[in-house]
Amino acid sequence: MAPETRTKPIQDQIDLEFEGKRVTLPVVKGSEAEAAIDIAKLRSSTGLITLDPGYGNTGSCYSGITFIDGEKGILRYRGYPIEQLAERSSFLEVAWLLIQGELPSQSQLANFQQLIVRHTMLHEDMRRFFTALPKDAHPMPVCAAAIGALATFYQRQEDEQFRHDVAVRLIAKMPTIAAWSYKHSIGQPVLYPRNDLPYASNFLRMMFGTPCEDYVVDPVVAKALDLLLILHADHEQNCSTSTVRMVGSSRANLFASISAGISALWGPLHGGANQEVIEMLEAIEAEGGNVDRFMQRAKDKNDTTRLMGFGHRVYKSYDPRAAILKRTCKEVIGRVGGSSRLLEIAIKLEEIALRDEYFVSRKLYPNVDFYSGVIYKAIGIPVNMFTVLFAIGRLPGWIAHWMELRNDPASKINRPRQIYTGPKERPYVALEARR
Ligand code: CMC
Repeated sequence: MAPETRTKPIQDQIDLEFEGKRVTLPVVKGSEAEAAIDIAKLRSSTGLITLDPGYGNTGSCYSGITFIDGEKGILRYRGYPIEQLAERSSFLEVAWLLIQGELPSQSQLANFQQLIVRHTMLHEDMRRFFTALPKDAHPMPVCAAAIGALATFYQRQEDEQFRHDVAVRLIAKMPTIAAWSYKHSIGQPVLYPRNDLPYASNFLRMMFGTPCEDYVVDPVVAKALDLLLILHADHEQNCSTSTVRMVGSSRANLFASISAGISALWGPLHGGANQEVIEMLEAIEAEGGNVDRFMQRAKDKNDTTRLMGFGHRVYKSYDPRAAILKRTCKEVIGRVGGSSRLLEIAIKLEEIALRDEYFVSRKLYPNVDFYSGVIYKAIGIPVNMFTVLFAIGRLPGWIAHWMELRNDPASKINRPRQIYTGPKERPYVALEARR
């Protein structure tokens, strides 16, 4: 299903000497001229390993899916700029692009959409799965568990066709799982998907409709949601994607790997940040909207407060996704009303931060989460579903990375090393002799 990883030829080399042992390490270059020292021979030749907690300087793989230049604020899926995809494509088109490597033809896209529509329903037995969980469960672990549980319904021997089938089923069923996890949390009956609705509209209807009253989807809202999904669809080797690849490297199946990715995304420093942004904006509003006081706290080293939605491990300039969302935010609020006070506070915070020496010197700019939460809030998505929406969007990216890993004949089980800092060898002390 996925195209083969294209590796690049060796461009240069670096000589290294440690305690009299020498090694020549190749420098490899990617298609955008980013360079890396290939250290595969480092340990066997010198006994050294590299140490990079948080992996800020470590390339874990070759990948042909997404290119980011964090200094210049560039994001491209399979070579296509995010701005153009956001303007002209749809989420399912982007999903195909990420997984297959090329934009679909009209008939390929039509067939793909048809396939997705045919697989949106969950096995009826899965309904009991939701009811077994506590009512106040956060929908993220519910989704992670539901995706893991889906594996039990698909236990065929894994081959190319099976992987393709699973990928389609995951993309098709994810909105149903997400909406059902929400319905369960509010004690309402679930709604079955409707095959005549496009992807985002189908999800919105399952979220907000009831058996007593159908939900009429506003096309502006559906378009905004589709855009949000496109913008979240991939972001190269981020925490959750690296998790998917890490789990997949043991040859674990796609369900297990995606379930792990959802769990990683749940963390407040990753996908959970947009929920924290809204909570931050609401807290500022509740305290009278004093943005200056909040900014002082965000800069204070003795205060744990951070300006959520600001800063990024990779972007050291404006996140291009945040720029697109800032415009959409104004459009959506103009259409559906509400939350304009939160948007005003967000814009004020941004204005201050972009002039403030603390943020400027640390290259902290708005990231995708800064405005996404304001849009979700405006269209009525409850705060605890924000990260779930991120997961629906990120799913094709996770799948594309998992497929890329599986199609790479050179891929190995991921197994980093460490620098041990614990006690040296010591003899066991008998229990009665211990204090
Ligand atoms: N507010 C205030 N100070 C900050 C912030 C912030 N949002 N982000 C970073 N800093 C400071 C940090 O205190 C440190 O200062 P100093 O050098 O004086 O110690 C410096 O900037 C570098 O921060 P870091 O934590 O070492 O940077 P990182 O690359 O490890 O972390 C980050 C990146 C995204 C985790 C961090 O910027 C952060 O916590 N931001 C807020 C949470 C957030 O918005 N997360 C969403 C990320 S985008 C979604 C995604 O792709 O997953």
